[in-house]
Amino acid sequence: MKINVNGKITGPDEACISVFDRGFLFGDSIYEVSLTYDGVLFKIEEHLDRLWQSASHLDMPIGISRKQLTYQMLKTLKELNEKRAYIRVIITRGEGKIGLDPALATKNNLVIITKKLEENPTWWYDSGVEMIIASVLRNPKESMDPAVKSGNYLNNVLAFNQAKKQGAFDAIMLNQDGLVTEGTTSNIWIVKGKKLITPPLATGLLEGITRKTILEISKNSKIDVSETDFTPEVLKDADECFLTSSTKEVVPITKIDGISVGSGKPGPMTARLHSLYKSHIQEYTNSQRGAQGKISEDKS
Ligand code: PDD
Repeated sequence: MKINVNGKITGPDEACISVFDRGFLFGDSIYEVSLTYDGVLFKIEEHLDRLWQSASHLDMPIGISRKQLTYQMLKTLKELNEKRAYIRVIITRGEGKIGLDPALATKNNLVIITKKLEENPTWWYDSGVEMIIASVLRNPKESMDPAVKSGNYLNNVLAFNQAKKQGAFDAIMLNQDGLVTEGTTSNIWIVKGKKLITPPLATGLLEGITRKTILEISKNSKIDVSETDFTPEVLKDADECFLTSSTKEVVPITKIDGISVGSGKPGPMTARLHSLYKSHIQEYTNSQRGAQGKISEDKS
């Protein structure tokens, strides 16, 4: 592991942050998770866009430029020196006297955690995973908007814990109208006949970067795709179901609440989309390798 705290890169034991940090006290922080493929950081611009959108939702000034943050991320990855790495960027509002007033903190804390990322288990893709529908709901957009990737993930932690206690892989969360939103750290998709469907952003969910890519890939491949609401009943009655996230890519869901989805095996549309996604990763890494190499040399 290599960890960067406000520009200083160390191992995990030396990396530390104040107990007065608002991320620690109130979850007053934002974060992004990405990974590298063959040493190339995947979708860096999209992650930075979302980080800045999250900050803007929270009215949190970010005291580092995009260019400097990119440099810090690439520098930390360079020190880690792994072809396949996990990277988590956390920006907190900073530290100060204890109190809710955001003005009590004047300078962000930046933490970049990088570590070697093992390959995902092949059984996820070969057999599919089992999910539950959690009783814990996703926040309404009018509360802590799920579109913000903030350090406040307690609903998702509780939902994941429910799944774990029931021996499932993960949980799917509903909104207050009983509609499917997303997984605890992933977006959810179903296939009905030839139609590919994922819930719209208005339902209250994080706009996943993988979700956005799958939407684009599907449209380019003339797949009939739509962003449409559905209930858990429709979900369980789907022909195929899968989840998407940066680190998991495209994972078939073959059981929900103990009931088999479709044939109970990963379906052809899921496999096709995963293969299209893999090709997209390849194209992306080939096109970005040179540019990222230059940025990591340029301190300006
Ligand atoms: N999670 N929904 C939620 C609530 C998430 O936390 C994530 C990402 C996603 C998928 O987003 P993306 O495709 O951009 O990875 C959807 C990351 C992986 C995490 O917290 O580890």
